[in-house]
Amino acid sequence: MSEATQTAKAEHTAYDGEFLVDAKGIKVHFPIKRGVIFDKTIGHVYAVDGVDLQIRTGETYGLVGESGSGKSTLGRAILNLEPPTAGTVEFDGVDIASLKGETLRHKRQDIQMVFQDPMGSLDPRQTVESLLLEGMKAHGLAKDGAQANKRLRELLQAVGLPVAALKKYPHEFSGGQRQRIGIARALSVNPKLIVADEPVSALDVSVQAQVINLLEDLQEEFGLTYLVVAHDLAVVRHISDRIGVMYLGGICEEADADDLYAQPLHPYTRALMSAVPVPDPLVEDRRERIILTGDLPSPSNPPKGCRFHTRCPWRQETKCDTERPVLRIPDLPGIATSHRVACHWTEQIESGEIQSHEVKAQLVEQHDADGEVDLIGPASISEAL
Ligand SMILES: Nc1ncnc2c1ncn2[C@@H]1O[C@H](COP(=O)(O)OP(=O)(O)OP(=O)(O)O)[C@@H](O)[C@H]1O
Ligand code: SF4
Ligand SMILES: [Mg+2]
Repeated sequence: MSEATQTAKAEHTAYDGEFLVDAKGIKVHFPIKRGVIFDKTIGHVYAVDGVDLQIRTGETYGLVGESGSGKSTLGRAILNLEPPTAGTVEFDGVDIASLKGETLRHKRQDIQMVFQDPMGSLDPRQTVESLLLEGMKAHGLAKDGAQANKRLRELLQAVGLPVAALKKYPHEFSGGQRQRIGIARALSVNPKLIVADEPVSALDVSVQAQVINLLEDLQEEFGLTYLVVAHDLAVVRHISDRIGVMYLGGICEEADADDLYAQPLHPYTRALMSAVPVPDPLVEDRRERIILTGDLPSPSNPPKGCRFHTRCPWRQETKCDTERPVLRIPDLPGIATSHRVACHWTEQIESGEIQSHEVKAQLVEQHDADGEVDLIGPASISEAL
């Protein structure tokens, strides 16, 4: 991150308490339906199950977690593209769900998405010019031809593409360039918030850094706020001011990016971190390794109590299986008040009072094709430290 970007970010995030996004108690439950004639709901996928998420104006909030943990669904719920089953989302002080018609359309202009697969999200039959003009026209930003033309050129310059790109079609560009078009399209309507869902996952590593740097530069230039969803910890670390770690529909740890990397507290975050190689061979030799075996349990039948208890090397017989931990500031010396963790035993794990142990195999319930409950297993088998 350039020094200028860091300074700008520090200024942006200096005023605590001013939230552009304030989401409370978000749940998104998808019904599982079966039946030939009558659709019968036989269960639910608890994709997002009780999340509070605040994003400050001008900051980048990174959301990480395994595939299927609910990151994209949470991002879509914040945009109201997936209306939440429960909970409220305030954007810029306004409850999005309460908006209708023209007011909703106007508000939508403030929130734009950048997707993982730019080829899939850009209409292959439209030129770059018409792709960029589409959103501008929809929001009344292309009424004056000369102004619109000037704006198109500025947008291309901002994302590092030549003016000649305007007449070309998406397939004529490389993956990285297509993502630049996707970003220009998001920018074209002057948004306040950009939700970038795995914005660089489909790109070569060398191109990933360029696109990440571009996003950072644009944030500085246009005062943008970002929610960046990614499963790659390196990407999230580089770009984020704050990070939320998602596991099975809930946030299990949240902290400023540097604090999370310096001292991950939740057993799941520790496992995620321990999987990332460190370039320094001495540190690499000494670092903690927690190998999580067993798949993420099904979100249609999440474990009771702590969602992570079926895979947690520190699980205790009491509480872990029965009581769902809430996000809280742990009672530990030197921990910032922005560092919150959803684990009953953080203090005892940190002090060494509770030691890690082998994870026992578990039987888990799963709905079969007829909606009957089957027992399958093991859900998680063992772990090595
Ligand atoms: N429209 C839908 N109907 C039913 N289930 C859904 C729907 N969308 C998502 N899901 C389920 O919700 C859960 C969370 O999905 P989501 O796409 O949010 O996860 P994710 O963390 O973004 O994963 P990935 O890293 O693979 O993109 C998954 O089990 C998924 O199958
Ligand atoms: S609450 Fe228990 S199962 Fe959950 S992370 Fe903490 S120790 Fe592990
Ligand atoms: Mg996703």
